[in-house]
Amino acid sequence: MTVTRGLEGVVATTSSISSIIDDTLTYVGYNIDDLAVNASFEEVIYLLWHRKLPNKEELAQLTKQLADSADIPQAVIDHFKAMPINKVHPMGALRSAVSILGEFDDEAEAMDEEANYRKAIRIQAKIPTITTAFARIRKGLEPIAPRNDLSFAGNFLYMLTGEEPDSIAIEAFNKALVLHADHELNASTFTARVCVATLSDIYSGIVAAIGALKGPLHGGANERVMKMLAEIGDVTNVEPYIQQKMVNKEKIMGFGHRVYRFGDPRAKHLKEMSEKLTKLTGEPKWYDMSVAIEKTVTAEKDIPPNVDFYSASVYHSLGIDHDLFTPIFAVSRASGWLAHILEQYDNNRLIRPRAEYTGPGMQVYVPVDERM
Ligand code: SDX
Repeated sequence: MTVTRGLEGVVATTSSISSIIDDTLTYVGYNIDDLAVNASFEEVIYLLWHRKLPNKEELAQLTKQLADSADIPQAVIDHFKAMPINKVHPMGALRSAVSILGEFDDEAEAMDEEANYRKAIRIQAKIPTITTAFARIRKGLEPIAPRNDLSFAGNFLYMLTGEEPDSIAIEAFNKALVLHADHELNASTFTARVCVATLSDIYSGIVAAIGALKGPLHGGANERVMKMLAEIGDVTNVEPYIQQKMVNKEKIMGFGHRVYRFGDPRAKHLKEMSEKLTKLTGEPKWYDMSVAIEKTVTAEKDIPPNVDFYSASVYHSLGIDHDLFTPIFAVSRASGWLAHILEQYDNNRLIRPRAEYTGPGMQVYVPVDERM
């Protein structure tokens, strides 16, 4: 038995959804650089689910289906109002809320392809409404119902603030959603596939994926990057702060990747957005500090910034609460999770690796009265 810790380099399945080859990321063969600049998030959802970019009618149909499914059961709002909301992390609240969605979905246990596709639409459409409702209720505000005349990205920002977002914010948020949508067999996507490979339902698969994304080594890193920037406070503190982290052998959040060796192709788009948005909001210090951190870290260690590093200052510049950064990752990554769940159902085999046993050899049972 050869143990491969963390399954590093292990090819666990085949997939036609996204590829990471020689540090190039594609969704169904389309380079992320092209999609980031040209595609709407709605187009990317269709691409990931149908393996082709939609024509005008297909895009209009998906957009309408998502808009028509964006409302959430009152039970979710009541749940948020009943919970100790300021003690609950938004990812924990999202995890519970998606479970509640399943309880109010008459097709929750249906396993035919059409029902699973309809549930994918409902889950994708409702996660933004859940996230923004939570964000408002914990501030004592009423949730804002989704509108059907705004884009997916625009609707999220509208439901968060109650104001119609400007085109720059919509463009930036749309691009962030496109960049985070899918990423081959990352930990949360693999978690979703392991779950549904038992032929468990789609809601269970998404709840499992939310739990995995929550961790700071995965989607939870972006919130911690912002915490690090706030702790550093000023570009003059970057060097001593990072050096101390290195001396303490602590991980620098937003750096390193299991697969990318020379750099995460998504980071450059988020870096550009960070420079633009921090300038527009009059707080270039967040970008300046981030660039100084990147310079210091990469001078010391061969670990380039990943998708979580510059997304922090982008989301902060959009006025988003720092602990909502990971739920926003989930808003986007739900499209990838759902694509992989549907692909797993389509050609399923139970996922069950082995473990090399390192415990004691055979033992004889001794009754409790005779044990020391
Ligand atoms: C995401 O898989 C995906 O595709 C994920 C993702 C996606 O889109 O789904 O890309 C999104 O999760 C990005 C990663 C977000 N996480 C962080 O930013 C947390 C900080 N990063 C690290 O914890 C780490 O880089 C991981 C978890 C991302 C990758 O971990 P690995 O592959 O297990 O690497 P490792 O921990 O074994 O480190 C290898 C070496 C070690 O040095 P040595 O002990 O061998 O000397 O690199 C060092 C590590 O110390 N290292 C770091 C580091 N990351 C790796 N050192 C300091 N800071 C870091 N961030």
